[in-house]
Amino acid sequence: MPATVPPIPVKSAEGTRLYLENGLSIIDGMSSWWTVAHGHRHPHLVEAACKQINQMPHVMFGGLTHQPAVELAEWLISRSPEGLDLVFYSDSGSVSVEVAMKMALQYQRGNGHPERHRLVTWRRGYHGDTQGPMSVCDPDNGMHSFWQGTLVKQIFAPAPPTDPSCDITAINRSGDKTESSDSSDAHSTLDDIDTYLGEFESYIDDTVAAVLVEPIVQGAGGMRFHHSALLTGLRRLCDKHDILLIVDEIATGFGRTGSLFACDLAAVTPDIMCIGKALTGGMMSFAATLTTRRIGTMISTPQGGGALMHGPTYMGNPLACAVARAAGDLIDNGYWRLAVPRIEQELRIGLAPLVDDPAVASLRAMGAIGVVETVRPIDMCSATQVAVESGVWLRPFGKLVYCMPPFTSSSEDITAICRAIRNIVDEST
Ligand SMILES: Cc1ncc(COP(=O)(O)O)c(C=O)c1O
Repeated sequence: MPATVPPIPVKSAEGTRLYLENGLSIIDGMSSWWTVAHGHRHPHLVEAACKQINQMPHVMFGGLTHQPAVELAEWLISRSPEGLDLVFYSDSGSVSVEVAMKMALQYQRGNGHPERHRLVTWRRGYHGDTQGPMSVCDPDNGMHSFWQGTLVKQIFAPAPPTDPSCDITAINRSGDKTESSDSSDAHSTLDDIDTYLGEFESYIDDTVAAVLVEPIVQGAGGMRFHHSALLTGLRRLCDKHDILLIVDEIATGFGRTGSLFACDLAAVTPDIMCIGKALTGGMMSFAATLTTRRIGTMISTPQGGGALMHGPTYMGNPLACAVARAAGDLIDNGYWRLAVPRIEQELRIGLAPLVDDPAVASLRAMGAIGVVETVRPIDMCSATQVAVESGVWLRPFGKLVYCMPPFTSSSEDITAICRAIRNIVDEST
């Protein structure tokens, strides 16, 4: 479709760098939308892809199975929170959320509660662009407000309070109270979290099948970080009301927060978990929805539908499974457990000079994610140009200039990314 700004042609990519058609090379400060966690064209992933392409790039997954799917499922089950024992493969993050929603509704029907057909989520979330996920995205922010009135009506609790320990502004600004342009950005103490959970509970009624949230990090809905006690509290509420907890780890999964999964920070096992993005290390689109045996068994009963009512053509694609399993080796290697905290520290240092900038409302960092929230919206077109001229690829939106670099980024890469972000803020004022 016609673009408002002509896109920049990229010729190749390697490690943390994108090589442009015009001869420039720039650092991919976005990990190509959270996917390329281990850098572009990682030799181990390329080797796995080539091997699988020569053997069997694709075969249908209805009535047939194959070793790459089995090996990946075994790996995922052994690394994901205890109790998630079943895996459903699909082709993108949005579809894995659609699948999670169907799992929850089929489970509730199987369990004798067809009236439980709605989801509760909190505001400022983002879960993808197909119809089901759009219905649980923040209803007022972002492009999904355009679809209001056409989507299934879900239930929205207020946005969760943010975690002050991630706020560089609060830590660095001398004496000043942090000002945020987002009035819902009250910082949390444990008392606030209890109060918030009490309010959240009031949104749970007899029509609710599940709570669905992004754990610890709200991504495209606002780049907001919250305390792990909120997730523990949601688990408690779901158990109390006998409803399911669905977590969307599509952005957070595979090390981005410093933990393998964000759920691990709260030691919580959800009933259903969506993963995607870095699952294949950014080699191709692929996703999965994990659940417990209790839920899978209920779905398999005649009243639960007999089988999950979903079957995408490319589900369980062997090429994607083989690459994802190879990405698992890079996760098992564990290098990221040191790299991510180092990147967080370097982001905090590199963004700190913006602390007293009147154009900046808030600065925050968690794991390999750095965020500058500005007072006024940023012009994406000129900001992108400033970033490229600074040798970095960034994609700001609204009042957010943010980065989530590959875990293989050097200290020099992070310094350059922070400089580019500072240049954007300087140029915008
Ligand atoms: C938290 C979250 N959920 C779901 C999605 C949708 O994934 P996909 O774009 O692969 O459909 C995204 C994508 O940005 C995401 O960040």
